[in-house]
Amino acid sequence: MRIGVLTGGGDCPGLNAVIRAVTKSLLRQCGAEVIGIHNGFAGLMGEAPQTRTLDWDRVSGILMQGGTILGTSNKANPLASEASAAQAMTNARALGLDALVAIGGDGTMAIAHGLSLRGLHIVGVPKTIDNDIVGCERSFGFDTAVATVTEAIERLQTTGQSHGRVMIIETMGRYAGWIALEAGLAGAADVILLPEIDYSVEAVAAVCREREQRGRHSLICIGEGAKPRGGALTIERRVTDSPDPIRLGGVGHALREQLQPLLQSEVRATVLGHVQRGGAPTPFDRVLATQFGNEAAQLIMAGRFNQMVTLRGERLASLPLAEVAHQSRHVPADHPLLRTARQIGVSLGEG
Ligand code: F6P
Repeated sequence: MRIGVLTGGGDCPGLNAVIRAVTKSLLRQCGAEVIGIHNGFAGLMGEAPQTRTLDWDRVSGILMQGGTILGTSNKANPLASEASAAQAMTNARALGLDALVAIGGDGTMAIAHGLSLRGLHIVGVPKTIDNDIVGCERSFGFDTAVATVTEAIERLQTTGQSHGRVMIIETMGRYAGWIALEAGLAGAADVILLPEIDYSVEAVAAVCREREQRGRHSLICIGEGAKPRGGALTIERRVTDSPDPIRLGGVGHALREQLQPLLQSEVRATVLGHVQRGGAPTPFDRVLATQFGNEAAQLIMAGRFNQMVTLRGERLASLPLAEVAHQSRHVPADHPLLRTARQIGVSLGEG
């Protein structure tokens, strides 16, 4: 067997752990040849495929490395035209691929689904710091991002306390509030604002004012996709060369502008940005990514194609790519962590 592996979309900690586990499982269990494809689907879209063979030594020692040894692209989309889809299929055939492991987010799964309809055998592995992939309770990269944001919040807490300021931290997560919610709780934020719950500026100001009166600083954790009631998303820029045409960013500064006139304390905003995607995966993410990679190899050896590996409860499972493509998973209104937050007095900007 010849199996291709690629990483698509934005990177996240744990990608190398998956590459290692897929490769080692396939080499050890069935002696397959494993071909790494460079820069996501871009590596299949040129005149000739861009690849390198992945052998045991090449994937040894990469478990704890951040990023991806294969490179990635969140722009390359073979489904953008018939010609590029045909070129990708031609390259896959030229490589003699029996199957492809596509490690990526919802965009990558949508492309994988499209190519699987054209006859390429694909197994998907979900990755994203956003934790927003449908049917998958935990994607690797998320735990690491939450740890990074939590540490940042703790640092903002001490400086915020020293100056008696209102500190705002803006997290990534796109249209899902998982990172803001978990890191906000872990970092003892006073206010957590999520894309799923439009916030009232006055309700947030009231929390900060009440704390001001008690001589306390305030910490607000806001997901980049959050918006004020009746307001719009804060868009950092629009892009034309990517399947995702919008890059969110800046809502933390927008909130600062809204709050400052209503408060006596100085309000400061920090946008954490790509720090959340970098660095070594946590032990949890290393283990999860290893399980996902191993499971992808099992699906391939069992001939169960056009599936994505998932985690349900503590169990690995799989779902048809068709069921996960073009969708994302948001924090549901009845999520237990929302109840916990409210009951311990963390404001979600409601009111
Ligand atoms: O999907 C992962 C993610 O980091 C989002 O949280 C964020 O909105 C987006 O990617 C940023 O994308 P880029 O790296 O293209 O700016």
